[in-house]
Amino acid sequence: MTIERILVIGAGTMGRQIAMSCALSGYQTILQDISADALSAARKELESWADSRVSKGKLEQADAQAALERLSESTDLVHSAGTADLVIEAAVERLDIKEQIFATLGEHTPAHAILATNSSTLPSSRVAQASGRPAQVCNMHFFNPALVMKCVEVVRNEQTSDETVSAVTDVATRLGKQPVLVNKEIPGFIANRMMGAINAEALNLAQQGIASIEDIDTTAKTALGHPMGPFELMDMVGLDVIDVIAQATYAETGEDADKPHPLITEKVQAGLLGRKSGEGFYPYS
Ligand code: 3HC
Repeated sequence: MTIERILVIGAGTMGRQIAMSCALSGYQTILQDISADALSAARKELESWADSRVSKGKLEQADAQAALERLSESTDLVHSAGTADLVIEAAVERLDIKEQIFATLGEHTPAHAILATNSSTLPSSRVAQASGRPAQVCNMHFFNPALVMKCVEVVRNEQTSDETVSAVTDVATRLGKQPVLVNKEIPGFIANRMMGAINAEALNLAQQGIASIEDIDTTAKTALGHPMGPFELMDMVGLDVIDVIAQATYAETGEDADKPHPLITEKVQAGLLGRKSGEGFYPYS
């Protein structure tokens, strides 16, 4: 199947960068969101990202302009769905909203269209039935910042067809990503399970006063070669997102080790969500 037109739903941190990545790779891309303000904020951020790449000499001006021209924005889901060969849903992590979106997509996208969700907490089997075409549904999980991180987890549910896996894998490769296949739906897939284990240990070390968060982060970077320390990374991902991932994992496994950590819950309740709110474990100006 030839995929030429991609619809990305949700203009938040992930959706906007996924959409730009698609446009840069030559796909006609629509970024859809119910909020016109979110769409214009996304366009502004992507234009300034493209300008900075051009001024660093990492992107040709003509390529930046062509990508921004291939990318359009819309608040109208039904209309945007009509021409999509592939949909990547990156809306809020709420099952009721995703079910509604997948039902709309099942009704309004062309019959051949593949419907992927970027969700890290809701496996695609939870929304597949709502779409009415479960064989064409899977998770396509990108990482933050999506314009930079190479990995895309392609997660199949029990009904996902081989053709769907193959088409989604091909798209991820054309985006310049490194797709990995997750054969079974499991909470956290691969990456968030490993990240969760590191975060849990880092949080426990800090809570017990074994070391400061700065020194734990320094250790991760200088002893283990991680690009960021776990507290810096949690602040970047968003502590609310970390909390939602932990809640979803715990709901699934019921294991104490997966319980949301009290240090995270405390921060979220205080509105300290990381970089996006101006403060998390660290302050941001
Ligand atoms: N958006 C777009 N581009 C960004 C960016 C952002 N938010 N942050 C950094 N970049 C770009 C920079 O522009 C720069 O591009 P260039 O090389 O072309 O000039 C490049 O990334 C490197 O940035 P910096 O030199 O400023 O800083 P670093 O070398 O420290 O890299 C980083 C920044 C890429 C964020 C790196 O620190 C890193 O890889 N951190 C780990 C990120 C990670 O683990 N992400 C996964 C999170 S888990 C997740 O997303 C799953 C979800 O379900 C929660």
